[in-house]
Amino acid sequence: MNDKYIPGPNGIFYRKSGAGPAVILLHGFPASGILWHNIGEELSASFTVIIPDLPGSGNSPLNTETNISDMAGMVNAIMDHEGIEKAVIAGHSMGGYVALAFAGLYPEKIAGLSLVHSSTEADDEDKKKTRRKSIDLIKNGGKDLFISQMIPNLFSPAFKQSHPLIVKHQVEQSLEMEARGMINFYNAMLTRPDSTELLVNAHFPLQWISGFDDNIIPNKKILGKCHTSGINFVSFYNNCGHMSMLEAPEKLTKDLKDFINYSYHHQQDYHE
Ligand code: MLT
Repeated sequence: MNDKYIPGPNGIFYRKSGAGPAVILLHGFPASGILWHNIGEELSASFTVIIPDLPGSGNSPLNTETNISDMAGMVNAIMDHEGIEKAVIAGHSMGGYVALAFAGLYPEKIAGLSLVHSSTEADDEDKKKTRRKSIDLIKNGGKDLFISQMIPNLFSPAFKQSHPLIVKHQVEQSLEMEARGMINFYNAMLTRPDSTELLVNAHFPLQWISGFDDNIIPNKKILGKCHTSGINFVSFYNNCGHMSMLEAPEKLTKDLKDFINYSYHHQQDYHE
């Protein structure tokens, strides 16, 4: 993977590898592009893979407060910088919210949109309240406590039991994130608009990856939405929570490959 950086007030770090049709992998909260590393390596055998660190995570600075659509603008800046006209965008959870904002702003640049444990719905009032409480906790020095309680909850009970070291490693990775960046991500998610309407007229295929044991984006939420769009690839994973890139990496790699290949080879389906 080659490390790249676009400087400036909206400076962003990303990794690039492989050649061929482009796929952009967007990470969730509280993570960085590193979470996509292994899947990105696999995909780069067939595709150009771009993995950004969203602002305030990994190697990307947080220069000013950034909302979800600002982050979509940063993804667009990477595409422009790399001369990429169209990409499949796969977003994990918060990364999916950014991917949806991107699809709203630059629909002609999307070859396919993959929502990996993500949702088109905005936060409801209860969720907003919980996020505000978490922001207060983080502001008051509770960041590490918050992370060490939150991260294990992202995995299925079976995976937690069988792979405690992977869960521990993920806690350690997330602890590296600064409080300021975490608060920015939480505020960005809290204020994002609902994107469900976007699915009705989408001129690109959609993919939905959902874990039966996901505590963050419950499976039943996806069931109600995943046939709204014209073409949908839907995969429900057994014994999997919110983290299929760690819990079921081979299955996720295969599903992404199938979807990316479809997205690039069936574009005429939308223009007939
Ligand atoms: C994520 O995994 O990106 C976040 O937990 C999503 C969310 O809180 O809505």
